[in-house]
Amino acid sequence: MNTIWSNYIQGIKTLYYSRKLRFDTMFREQYKALFGLEEGKKLKILEIGCGPGALAGALHRWYPEAEIIAIDRDSEFISFAKENEPGIYFMEGDATALPFEDGSFDVTISNTVSEHIEPEKFYGEQLRVLKPGGVCLVLSARKGIHVYAKCLTKRPEEEAFWKKVEQYDDTMERFAVCKYPMSEAELPLELQIHGFQNISTGYATINLTPDHPAVSPEMAQAMINANRYTALEAIDSVRSFMPEQVTEAECQAMKDIVEEKYDIRMEQYQKGEKQWDTNVNITMVVRGEKEK
Ligand SMILES: C[S@@+](CC[C@H](N)C(=O)[O-])C[C@H]1O[C@@H](n2cnc3c(N)ncnc32)[C@H](O)[C@@H]1O
Repeated sequence: MNTIWSNYIQGIKTLYYSRKLRFDTMFREQYKALFGLEEGKKLKILEIGCGPGALAGALHRWYPEAEIIAIDRDSEFISFAKENEPGIYFMEGDATALPFEDGSFDVTISNTVSEHIEPEKFYGEQLRVLKPGGVCLVLSARKGIHVYAKCLTKRPEEEAFWKKVEQYDDTMERFAVCKYPMSEAELPLELQIHGFQNISTGYATINLTPDHPAVSPEMAQAMINANRYTALEAIDSVRSFMPEQVTEAECQAMKDIVEEKYDIRMEQYQKGEKQWDTNVNITMVVRGEKEK
């Protein structure tokens, strides 16, 4: 049972609700153009490092004929995904030793995973399990635009809490998070080095702005709440990771502040008081093919 990621790095709600937004139908055509997959074909797709399953769910809706298998090392993510994203085969497993025969898949895909896994194994395993002519899609979050509403500004108690946490926080080194970051030029080169051909790159621009008129009230509120969950679960992760350094009471006080601030933001939205806070995510999509 491995629960490292969900316990110490990013919680279920953080990943699930932020990705539900990033892979909303609103952005489907951008992704589909970048994926360049054959429509109407019974593709066999493997998602690697699927987390709680939001991208796998979107793929299931966008390519209804496809058979989708999704794998992650974290058991909490896999049990959540099984309950919440029907129609997909979710399983626990390691991206560096994929439990599949050579030449089993038409497509491999991952989102914000490549930077955490040793490239030789990450790409080598995908090349091995892909059929000749199969497609490898690597999605990676790039620097975006993040502007918070005024009411969400960090309060002095929060500044003090996070300053204290920073002194003890070695999660990134301890769990090799982002150990293999790649620039926009290095990422496609990496696919080339590992034997992929016909490599292309592209970018999906995901504008998450609750006050935008094209955004439905349901989606706007989901945007506000996705940020709320991320802020709350970041505090939970700290408590799990350093129970000696931060008390339950300190964490609860921080969570109360977060709830209060996001309640204010939600009320502003519901009253039509526009804030124009925005979260623009840029997702890089690198596409490569295995030799035919
Ligand atoms: C940043 S999260 C992204 C999760 C998901 N792709 C998403 O966008 O919500 C990175 C994921 O990679 C998984 N992971 C890291 N190393 C792995 C490995 N060696 N094998 C399988 N999964 C791995 C983690 O458990 C985590 O779910």
